Amino acid sequence: MAKSIAIDGPAGAGKSTIARQVAQELGFIYVDTGAMYRAMALYMLKEGIGADESEKIVSSCKKADITIRHENNEQVVYLNGDNVNGLIRTEEVGNMTSAISVNKEVREKLVELQQKLAEATDVVMDGRDIGTVVLPNADLKVYLTASSRVRAERRYKELVAKKVECNLEEIEKDIIDRDYRDMNRDISPLKQADDAILLDSSDMTILEVKDKIIELYKGI
Ligand code: DC
Repeated sequence: MAKSIAIDGPAGAGKSTIARQVAQELGFIYVDTGAMYRAMALYMLKEGIGADESEKIVSSCKKADITIRHENNEQVVYLNGDNVNGLIRTEEVGNMTSAISVNKEVREKLVELQQKLAEATDVVMDGRDIGTVVLPNADLKVYLTASSRVRAERRYKELVAKKVECNLEEIEKDIIDRDYRDMNRDISPLKQADDAILLDSSDMTILEVKDKIIELYKGI
């Protein structure tokens, strides 16, 4: 049976960087589920659908064909045949994603795709509901978090490095709002699975967190 590690937690906790490194070290495939929700949100934005138009979200999500391929060790997300990796990391798409991911039909469609991927290969999968809904029988579940201030500072540094004009207070406010939406939605809210191990990365380096997860996995 394929092996799996589930990493859940709020935005900016370092999930994707760490999950990618853990996958590489163990020879697993890294599956970034947030990118799938982001591709869906991009489709809705392109269709001119508003975050609160739930009927339109339900009907249009059926028309969005999202597929995942792994090319040169990187996950590539295709939306209706186009590689959208370069378009899904904006704040606009991020905020739309958090809004549309409350929708039951959107979630059902993407969870099915995620479960199929994990049936076929050993995966490290990160998201919000991996340990609770997508892979309830994962071999190891980690809930990775950090304070909102630390997460905002990390995001701020990334944006400054990309020469994007930004404001730390606004970024922290966005993070707090997004956490609230992700943790308080009716369907599959972000929460720590009962059998997940809590790691707070506020005072840990990426390397320390990665090593800890590898140690936990080897110890199971
Ligand atoms: O991990 P990320 O920042 O790329 O995720 C973007 C949004 O997608 C996040 O605000 C909530 C949603 N999401 C989700 O609801 N379930 C997942 N498994 C992954 C992401």
